[in-house]
Amino acid sequence: MSFAEDLYSINKDLTPEVMARVDEIIARHRGTPGSLIPVLEECQGVTAYLPVELQEYIARGLNMPASTVYGVVTFYSFFSMIPKGRHTVRVCMGTACYVRGMNEIVNRIRSEFNVEIGNTMPDRRFSLESVRCLGACGLAPVVMVDSDTHGGVTPERIVDILNRYK
Ligand code: FES
Repeated sequence: MSFAEDLYSINKDLTPEVMARVDEIIARHRGTPGSLIPVLEECQGVTAYLPVELQEYIARGLNMPASTVYGVVTFYSFFSMIPKGRHTVRVCMGTACYVRGMNEIVNRIRSEFNVEIGNTMPDRRFSLESVRCLGACGLAPVVMVDSDTHGGVTPERIVDILNRYK
């Protein structure tokens, strides 16, 4: 069994098709100084996230320590080690939203959908993120789902709102 096939047995997102694209990306950049970040960006464009097993594969391909790859992935916030959900829910923790009860809304999301901030539901329906301010403070408390802005949210309404996204 090749290393790439091994990866598929560990992580079903890393299909032979995905790994063929990863191989192409690595081959195109191999030997070019400073290629790690472009390789990681392109690979994340294919897989949507960078699990540790893929990081190890990239490290081998670029002939560098896995710890170097891990260090870069964890340093830059635009790299994610967590698979993304079909929908991204952004709860605003800025002052206006916070004082208008965002904590209760977040707690309702956590209990109703069993997902924590910074994580994705096991069925990948929602990824939950917190942000500082969504720039719509007059509508506080505000929750964004994908590109939709929902203002005046309450712990009751948030369940109905999220149930529109499957
Ligand atoms: S504080 Fe929430 S939108 Fe500005």
